[in-house]
Amino acid sequence: MNAPSTILVTGGAGFIGSHACVELLDHGYELIVVDNYSNSSPRAFTRVERLAGRFVGALYELDIRDRPALAAVFDRHSVDAVMHFAGDKSVSRSMRSPEEYYDNNVGGTTSLLRTMHDHGVHQLVYASSCAVYGESGPVPVGESTPAQPTNPYAASKWICEQLLSDVCRRRPEYTVLCLRYSNPAGAHPSGLLGEDVRGVPDNLMPYVAQVAIGRRERLRVFGADYPTHDGTAVRDYVHVMDTVEAHRLALDHLADAPGMHVYNLGLGEGRSVLDVVAAFSTASDKHIPYEVAPRRPGDVAEVVADASAMTRVWGWRPTRHLDDMCRDAWEFQRLNPHGYARTARRTKG
Ligand code: WQD
Repeated sequence: MNAPSTILVTGGAGFIGSHACVELLDHGYELIVVDNYSNSSPRAFTRVERLAGRFVGALYELDIRDRPALAAVFDRHSVDAVMHFAGDKSVSRSMRSPEEYYDNNVGGTTSLLRTMHDHGVHQLVYASSCAVYGESGPVPVGESTPAQPTNPYAASKWICEQLLSDVCRRRPEYTVLCLRYSNPAGAHPSGLLGEDVRGVPDNLMPYVAQVAIGRRERLRVFGADYPTHDGTAVRDYVHVMDTVEAHRLALDHLADAPGMHVYNLGLGEGRSVLDVVAAFSTASDKHIPYEVAPRRPGDVAEVVADASAMTRVWGWRPTRHLDDMCRDAWEFQRLNPHGYARTARRTKG
């Protein structure tokens, strides 16, 4: 199997997707990007192409559940492999709208899978989540820990993993590398690319950043009665740049062995909500006001990833820590108080 060179990136305008595009362009890949801009903006590509110093091959606004539209992209381009980021990722919203999450995340993945198969494309890097473990297992949690998702977002990821695994068992031509993220955070160190959230951020780091810049009055800390060192929930925050480097490495390993292979992707350092508040305050030199609120439905007390398998097999080693994430996220927020909203038009015609 030849090394892939043309990658179709779903959700390529999103937070992790856009940073992955820079990483892949920097390493010579040709990119075909599809995104429905439900939680992103095409303006991200002005930044992506500026950082990479070269254009994305093609950019399509479409919902991957629109199979005819997706098939037309595969008809037009010779895709070697797919990097699949597209999907909704808010735990709290998934609790309010489970049907929407199963439709978007599972329906989108099955539509993509069918279209890939129809076009003879059988190499996939899939963005899953450590959220599939739920409350189960040790800290840090390893890949062999049984999945026990506690919310529809996590369940949608787990369902996709199961259907991908079953297809790989039945069809030897497939290779699926499934990366279970902990909590990607931070931004590109240039300050040009970051987490440009539509509406009120659900995730902790972008919300804290908006408090620091003065767009939000204070942070609500969802729960201070968890069995953790300070009572607030613990997560394993991993720099988005380390995250996308792992994705680029995955492309180098698609030819290692067919079938589905699952890897945790995290830093392995558990940090509480108040740890993040303190680190962000230091990075931004801003006071971060907060109030304690009730626990958020669907949340778990602690998730920390054991990513030693990916290090052992691929040689991936994260090099950035929470202070780097806060520094870079603050630089992006400081330079882009309203995200990409006010930026020059795309340079490409
Ligand atoms: C982290 C902690 C909140 C906001 C994320 C992504 C998901 C997946 C897993 C990648 C929790 C608390 C948050 C706020 C708060 N990652 N919090 N006040 O829920 O772990 O899920 O990581 O695929 O896509 O969503 O991340 O940042 O929402 O929450 O107290 O205003 O911060 O309760 O304990 P979560 P999060």
